Amino acid sequence: MKLLHIDSSILGDNAASRPITTAIVQRLKSERPSLDVVYRDLATQPLPHLTLAHMPGDGSPDQAESLKALDEFLAADIVVIGAPMYNFTIPSQLKAWIDRVLTAGKTFRYTDKGAEGLAGGKRVIIAVSRGGLYGPGSPSAAAEHVETYLRAALAFIGIDNPEFIIAEGLKIGPEQFEAALSGALKQASELKAA
Ligand SMILES: Cc1cc2nc3c(=O)[nH]c(=O)nc-3n(C[C@H](O)[C@H](O)[C@H](O)COP(=O)(O)O)c2cc1C
Repeated sequence: MKLLHIDSSILGDNAASRPITTAIVQRLKSERPSLDVVYRDLATQPLPHLTLAHMPGDGSPDQAESLKALDEFLAADIVVIGAPMYNFTIPSQLKAWIDRVLTAGKTFRYTDKGAEGLAGGKRVIIAVSRGGLYGPGSPSAAAEHVETYLRAALAFIGIDNPEFIIAEGLKIGPEQFEAALSGALKQASELKAA
């Protein structure tokens, strides 16, 4: 069984999402030591913005980079994604990765009834880290475009039940940071086994 571990925080050792994705992977690996983990750090090794040169075609080096990212995703049974909120949505580095994953003919196809997802059956677990509070009913709920965006993008390719672990209010103060992070780490440690 293969697990793809994706981080996208630009904050290095100070990141909140990184320890959470690490805890998720550790939890799943402890339950299934044979789990084959592939790691991709989109902040230290960013994929470039998608351009025409990266679109499927004649096999140029630019396309090879895109295909490698797509193949890693296609091969994975479980995908763990660190998704910080930057300016109300996901980091552009993570968007560049999504631009490789949502590929017609590979993860979705067009039919006479509209688009159909082809990537169902994968387990996707997402660690969301947010400075403010965006939960249902909060004044900023309508500005939440991390969880809502990822749910829409994943549903489009057939993944309807992603699991979310959310640490929020991280910038409100040190106590809130500690409480949110430890709550998320606890949830990670209690995830159902792979
Ligand atoms: C460039 C940047 C933009 C941010 N924009 C937002 C924002 O729009 N809303 C918010 O609640 N927090 C925002 N934050 C705070 C982050 O969500 C918070 O620092 C969180 O810990 C980021 O996750 P990470 O630590 O895994 O990188 C921003 C942080 C950075 C660095």
